[in-house]
Amino acid sequence: MRLAVLASGSGSNLESILQALATHPTPPAQVVLVASNRAQAFALERARQRHIATAVIAKPTDGAALEALLLEHRVDVVVLAGYLKLVPAEVVRRWSGAILNIHPALLPKFGGAGMYGHHVHEAVLAAGDTESGATVHLVTDEYDRGAILAQAHVPVLPGDTAQSLGARVLAAEHELYPRTLLSFVEQRAKRAS
Ligand code: GAR
Repeated sequence: MRLAVLASGSGSNLESILQALATHPTPPAQVVLVASNRAQAFALERARQRHIATAVIAKPTDGAALEALLLEHRVDVVVLAGYLKLVPAEVVRRWSGAILNIHPALLPKFGGAGMYGHHVHEAVLAAGDTESGATVHLVTDEYDRGAILAQAHVPVLPGDTAQSLGARVLAAEHELYPRTLLSFVEQRAKRAS
């Protein structure tokens, strides 16, 4: 399975995925492309260090351009790892059921447009919830609404700030995303064979 990872920021989730694939005895997938809407995203640097092809998505709303890029790299599965732009409808349609996202909360709570990064953790704290977590789900053309594949739970502790809660959630993401992605591609490969 050929994976493309789309990321807007640091790419620590990309890193955890690359490490899981690198240490897997028989990796069921390889990352063939890392693309970002931000030329300065550290995720691109992580890819370059490993000689993985990179691309800057100049106009994230241009579905035809993103579709062409993914086709050029013969991508089977698209992995959103901190990608903060909506995936255009053309791409969602062509890779239907084959685009995964990770969200730093327990969806369906705290999802939707504008709910990313610290905004999510601030909303969880403001709601007084006693737990949060991370969700891996399939992507549809609406933010954070596709079928849920897996979740990890973390406690909200007394005195938490958005930063301390965010760090706890991110640590859970780094375990959840590679595990869920690997089992997703293994099942998909089995179905295809
Ligand atoms: C992660 O916490 C991810 O869940 C979140 O962005 C962060 C990216 O970190 N994604 C969203 O908020 C999507 N709505 P990373 O660049 O270090 O992987």
